[in-house]
Amino acid sequence: MKAEKTFVVLASGRGSNFQAIIDRVSDGYISAVCTALITDNPDAYAIERARDAGIPGEVVSFRSFADKQSYESALIATIQKYNPDLVVLAGYMRILGSEIVRRYSGRMVNIHPSLLPSFAGLHAQDQAIQYGVKVAGCTVHFVTEDMDAGPVIIQRTVPVLEGDDGDILAERILVEEHKAFPEAIRLFFEERLRIEGRVVRISSSSPSRCD
Ligand code: GRF
Repeated sequence: MKAEKTFVVLASGRGSNFQAIIDRVSDGYISAVCTALITDNPDAYAIERARDAGIPGEVVSFRSFADKQSYESALIATIQKYNPDLVVLAGYMRILGSEIVRRYSGRMVNIHPSLLPSFAGLHAQDQAIQYGVKVAGCTVHFVTEDMDAGPVIIQRTVPVLEGDDGDILAERILVEEHKAFPEAIRLFFEERLRIEGRVVRISSSSPSRCD
């Protein structure tokens, strides 16, 4: 049996959320070990962050597979190699197929830069600006087969200010992403999350604490 709880992170690019998460492992806020960074993009800056942190980086390059199915089989095999308790999608820019989503049901989380269910999909911050909302934010949710539609774990808000464009808003939201994601992962590993239908119940203290 594994002594410690573990997770892997899937990221496609910059990896600032990945960094925020592993920083919170280092400072003890999250009691679990990140055992791998897995990316579909050989040029992802997240790989460098993993190297700096001494975390194995795995590239499963979408382009080197004949079709989506063989890509996903390789991805599943790579994740399985680490046998993680949790799979974290941190800026992973591909839509996952049903096999992988079902396999990790209740054990796979994603972050999205909007207050879901508003503005699912790409360019959520631009969508928010164009719609004219006055409050925006981010959502951490469990992953289900419908894109950006799984049970919500945590949301954090930011104001949309006069003169904002998508990039300015994205930066403001990102600050909150870096708080929300570690918090959701911590709650998961404290076993404080219970999915009831599409609602996530958060218990106030860990069952193991017994206080
Ligand atoms: C974040 O805004 C995240 O919400 C979205 O993609 C972006 C990834 O940023 N899914 P980073 O790679 O974590 O810096």
